[in-house]
Amino acid sequence: MTSLTLPIRTGRLLLRPHREADAGHLHRIYSRPDVAVYLLDEPWLEETAREKVSERITKTDLDGKSGALAFVIEYEQAVIGDVVLWFTDRERRVAEIGWVLDPQHGGRGLATEAVRAVLDLAFDHYRVHRVTAQMDERNAASAKLAARAGMQHEAHLRQDWWSKGEWTDTVIYGMLASDRA
Ligand SMILES: CC(C)(COP(=O)(O)OP(=O)(O)OC[C@H]1O[C@@H](n2cnc3c(N)ncnc32)[C@H](O)[C@@H]1OP(=O)(O)O)[C@@H](O)C(=O)NCCC(=O)NCCS
Repeated sequence: MTSLTLPIRTGRLLLRPHREADAGHLHRIYSRPDVAVYLLDEPWLEETAREKVSERITKTDLDGKSGALAFVIEYEQAVIGDVVLWFTDRERRVAEIGWVLDPQHGGRGLATEAVRAVLDLAFDHYRVHRVTAQMDERNAASAKLAARAGMQHEAHLRQDWWSKGEWTDTVIYGMLASDRA
């Protein structure tokens, strides 16, 4: 396998590893109730942002110790979101992906562009067998993004997750290496 060259550039974006200084930028995004509503986390506090960023700084190689790759999404030199890819089964090369975008930059395909780039990396560089994305069934924007990025709707789990005081349904999207052949 060739070594991974970071950052990744797409048509409009720069995807780069996290730095401590990102805590403030990500706090601005993740502290918004409209961003956190379907996430497992409550809106982030400043301290939460610092802790999360410290963890994510170590996630720079899917095949490294962390088994994960966490990117900050930069658009015109501003942090506008993140994409994280992590192994759920390292031995069998099965991974999961998650994403968040600042709503101020929504509706222009920027999240889709970032997710496509990370899926390309997962399959073309890391030779992953399968990538999944899970979301609250009410999170229509996230489901549309998964479909736009080429993932297939695979499952709808009824009331499988207790989240923020209620049972919620989970939708699962997946992509196989063989889907891309
Ligand atoms: C999920 C989330 C990233 C989706 O954001 P988004 O703005 O809808 O996604 P994109 O940036 O890819 O933009 C897609 C929209 O831009 C439009 N668009 C415009 N130009 C486009 C282009 N060049 N390429 C693709 N789409 C384009 C699409 O048609 C789509 O609009 P639509 O939803 O009205 O059909 C965002 O809602 C979010 O961060 N939510 C909070 C966090 C969250 O829930 N994360 C997921 C947890 S599972």
